[in-house]
Amino acid sequence: MATIGLFDSGSGGLSVYREIVKLLPEENYIFYADNLYCPYGEKSREFIIDRAREITGFLLEKGADVIVVACNTATAAAIATLRQEYPVKFIGMEPAVKPAALETRTGVIGVLATAGTLKASKYLDTRDRYADGITVVEHVGQGFVELVEAGELDGEHAESVVRQSVQPLVEAGADHIVLGCTHYPFLRSTIEKVIADLCPGRDIKIVDPAPAAARQLERVIHEQGIPVTSTTSAASDRSQKVALFSSGSGDSLKRIFKLI
Ligand code: DGL
Repeated sequence: MATIGLFDSGSGGLSVYREIVKLLPEENYIFYADNLYCPYGEKSREFIIDRAREITGFLLEKGADVIVVACNTATAAAIATLRQEYPVKFIGMEPAVKPAALETRTGVIGVLATAGTLKASKYLDTRDRYADGITVVEHVGQGFVELVEAGELDGEHAESVVRQSVQPLVEAGADHIVLGCTHYPFLRSTIEKVIADLCPGRDIKIVDPAPAAARQLERVIHEQGIPVTSTTSAASDRSQKVALFSSGSGDSLKRIFKLI
């Protein structure tokens, strides 16, 4: 049985765990949410690298065979350093610009992510490589992480916060909106509602990279020869198989975990 470590600045990374556990339901999971230092979006690269080292050490001590950096911002800031410094495989998150750019009909795609992700060379390289000739409209999901951490996933206030960042993408003609932060999938219904209110009937696809990251993890586990359990038992008790850790109170983590 494999032990899979995951971490995020907060509880958002559970959107990645949720997809992974569908593919690999019988493995052991250790999830670390750095709630005390959340959000990472505006923090310096050095700060995020330090946190990522600390958390990686913790996950390895707990027996992780492979680590998923379930955070776009931490992937952009720290994954290259982690890969140099630790003898374990790391799976990272990347905004799904490529599939959106391949599928767009309007030639305009929107990307919602943190400031840290949008200015990182990792993101800029991906965008330049795959979205040549496509208009990419970027926006920070301002206030989105705070909503998710507070468990405020819908309602009037959440809608008005979401509208501020989604409206410019819709007005620019985007037909795909890429969720480039692992917290944002928890706001998906509110994002969809805001889009439906802004432009009823328009077909805008929301792209979440978590399923692709889960498939990538599965490939890496097989390549590395890490033994996995092949049975899929619908009756298996997920809560027995994941150990949740938080640098904060853990309230946000428990609240979001109940929703997945
Ligand atoms: N969940 C994060 C990401 O994917 C980080 C959000 C934040 O802490 O600002 O980027």
